[in-house]
Amino acid sequence: MEVQASAAVGVQANARITGPIILLGPPAAGKGTQAKLISETFGIPQISTGDILRGNVARKTELGMKAKAIMERGDLVPDELVCDMVASRLQEADCARGFILDGFPRTVRQAEWLDKQLEKMRGCKKGDAAAQQACAAPVVIRLVVDYNVLRRRITGRRSCPTCGRVYNVYSQPPKVQGICDVDGTALVTRPDDAEDVFAERMKAYDQQTLPLVDYYRERGRLVEVDGEQPVERVMEQAFSAIENVNRL
Ligand code: AP5
Repeated sequence: MEVQASAAVGVQANARITGPIILLGPPAAGKGTQAKLISETFGIPQISTGDILRGNVARKTELGMKAKAIMERGDLVPDELVCDMVASRLQEADCARGFILDGFPRTVRQAEWLDKQLEKMRGCKKGDAAAQQACAAPVVIRLVVDYNVLRRRITGRRSCPTCGRVYNVYSQPPKVQGICDVDGTALVTRPDDAEDVFAERMKAYDQQTLPLVDYYRERGRLVEVDGEQPVERVMEQAFSAIENVNRL
């Protein structure tokens, strides 16, 4: 699609070490959409805790069995489970130049854990400035979107169970209705996009995740972007935040 084409030419992939990037925002704010664009353009991995958890649910792993009912009712999975999951993902080799956290952290405890984890990672890489930069303090991009816009996005979202690509029947429809442009798989609606579950997810966001705005603002790490703009505009502003951040 057009968005991806323009993203690909905007910044040279693998150009530099970006360090950690956090995408913060309520359900359907566009975190996954922007994370994919950043990942393709900067050549760093998207770590979506929601996707990893859904993968575990689908494979019926021990973690998936614990998370399934919690996710189905729109609550947050316990911090310990999610932090362990992220810790092992951060050890993989593709995180060596930076990574995008999409949907993590989601509580102040997760944010405090992440700060300590990054500090520990930097400690293990003393004397290697480039490796330390890859796990420097994160830039936090907050996508700000009004509740009614989120609700409409949730009802229109469809995703590909094979490649994970996200569409929207109103704003980003596939070329052929109900079919993924990339691999021809039939698109599906996420079970937690049902109206009553969305309301619970919003409640969890307001009560447990919103305090992170102050947490990161106080630490000088927060960049706010109007997430109601077209995907391309949001992307440009997110890229600008990544390019201009001061990673002290
Ligand atoms: P998760 O999968 O992270 O869900 P979420 O945070 O609710 O976010 P979404 O995936 O719904 O939305 P998004 O912001 O990625 O938006 P998208 O790009 O798809 O988490 C699911 C569950 O897992 C949680 O409820 C919890 O139980 C558990 N979980 C996950 N992480 C956890 C953690 N850290 N701790 C504890 N539990 C955890 O876009 C939405 C739609 O809008 C799409 O259709 C898209 O095409 C469209 N769109 C995007 N941008 C635009 C735009 N600019 N204009 C118009 N349309 C747009």
